[in-house]
Amino acid sequence: MRLSPVTADRIRSLCREHLAPVEEQAPMSRYTSAGVGGQVPFVIQAPEARKAARLAAELRGLEEGGEFELRPLGNGTNLLVDDGGGAWVVLHFGGLGTKPRLTGHRVTAPAGMSLPYLVRNTIEAGLRGLEHAEGIPGTVGGSVAGNAGCYGGDMGRVVRHVHLLRDGRETRLEVGPADFGYRCSPVQSGDIVLEVEMELEEDDVEAIKTDRKGYRRRRLQSQPIGQRSAGCVFKNPEGDSAGRLIDAAGLKNTSVGGARVSEVHANFLVNDGGATAADFLALIEQIQETVQHQFGIGLETEIQVWQRETAA
Ligand code: EPU
Repeated sequence: MRLSPVTADRIRSLCREHLAPVEEQAPMSRYTSAGVGGQVPFVIQAPEARKAARLAAELRGLEEGGEFELRPLGNGTNLLVDDGGGAWVVLHFGGLGTKPRLTGHRVTAPAGMSLPYLVRNTIEAGLRGLEHAEGIPGTVGGSVAGNAGCYGGDMGRVVRHVHLLRDGRETRLEVGPADFGYRCSPVQSGDIVLEVEMELEEDDVEAIKTDRKGYRRRRLQSQPIGQRSAGCVFKNPEGDSAGRLIDAAGLKNTSVGGARVSEVHANFLVNDGGATAADFLALIEQIQETVQHQFGIGLETEIQVWQRETAA
């Protein structure tokens, strides 16, 4: 997927101006934890929050030409990208070397900070509220947008401000737990999260570390850590667990091409090597049909899918 020379040149010069490293004709398989996805014309490394806001606003302006769509990306841990790629200019938030800013109970982190890194820093500072989330491999921005959660906690409980780009303008949302739901947040499609402020509670470092240890143990026992996957693929239906249903339907280890239902946790689809997005999508459909047929329950996907036709 190539853009016109004029648009491509404009993007290159914007990136030079903002000192943002850029990769052209980039395979998305390298930017997603599932390891699938075709080429996009540009993956741009987002600079720190203020500069990222200016760069994103200018890219939004260029987007109006209709040749491409600008899409923010975190660690790509909850995402499947079409094998054919698409006309997406990807603003990649990740790998920033800064520390979170701590002011009393308040913690401010850029969207591109890895969540495990933020969690470790807050625990060392004697702040409680994120210790359950150390094993969530995403970025701060992605985890707030999708209200990532586990072991009874989620991001919505601690987030107080979200600084984002909405309709080309920098906006600061004041939020609280009531603004978040199960895997949903006040961040809308099209928003680009830049920075997040959270409120945590003071506690004894060793006590928080003991709780973290418990969460680590539970995760190691119940999830396929270290295997390529996009995390839980389906949302849990009200009052039940998608993993339990898929398992009860006898689908563990079912595979399509290189994509397979994990034998450790059935809501994780793993890439055994050489999987394509089409393999994952066919396996997802097979699971939905089987669970619908056996239990009369329609499983909805939790992961995002970037497809050319639907432009999700
Ligand atoms: N179960 C099975 N077979 C399986 C998987 C699970 O029988 O293959 C059973 C378990 O034995 C348990 C029940 O299902 O009785 C629930 O399983 P688990 O505790 O693993 O939780 P979950 O509901 O499957 C949710 C989140 C996870 C999160 C865990 C831990 C969703 C879709 N999943 O899983 O989040 O880590 O709780 O709190 O909400 C994610 O969203 O990407 C994710 C991994």
